[in-house]
Amino acid sequence: MQLLIGDITTLAVDGIVNAAHPGLLGGGGVDAAIHQRAGPQLLESCRKLPEISPGIRCPTGQARITPGFGLMARYVIHTVGPVWRGGHFHEAEALESCYCNSMLVASEYGLHRIAFPAISCGVYGFPLDQAARIALRTLAKAQDNSSAPQHVVLVIFSTSHAIYYWQAADALGLILSG
Ligand code: APR
Repeated sequence: MQLLIGDITTLAVDGIVNAAHPGLLGGGGVDAAIHQRAGPQLLESCRKLPEISPGIRCPTGQARITPGFGLMARYVIHTVGPVWRGGHFHEAEALESCYCNSMLVASEYGLHRIAFPAISCGVYGFPLDQAARIALRTLAKAQDNSSAPQHVVLVIFSTSHAIYYWQAADALGLILSG
């Protein structure tokens, strides 16, 4: 696993993961950045994904895939993280599902190199220390499956956030390349 500080929309990988809204019609944060760089075809493609209930194309913890259009990445995997509500509403399990299900979708599409943002750590308010531990633990476990992407990049937007990932890696005995 690799930790990069920067903008996920600039990566030439097989797939980048979007921290999306359940409607999959864009929003702020990394979602906005991805839509902006991918261009309007991404929104059209998201609109075509079926609604499983009114306004919901991807429930919390699940993942959907579209092409990357104007991005350097071939695909976008859209996942919806949990909104942090104090930690007593299965937020940890939901965040784990985001990482697991995104890796499963990537495996189904034969993606080898995939990049994740810090899902739920912006607008959705998940504490970074806990989110970093969940991300690393879940991704390391998912990589035990030989069909899962073997090159996973965690893309952290700000330097001050990266420390949480280094600390989590230490605690879990994982090695993160820079
Ligand atoms: N590259 C990498 N990381 C980024 C980028 C970028 N270009 N832009 C923002 N981030 C980081 C933020 O700093 C944060 O750490 O992504 C992390 C996730 O933040 P959000 O994008 O706010 O995602 P999230 O907390 O999961 O909230 C999702 O926000 O905009 C809406 O539609 C989105 O409703 C959904 C909600």
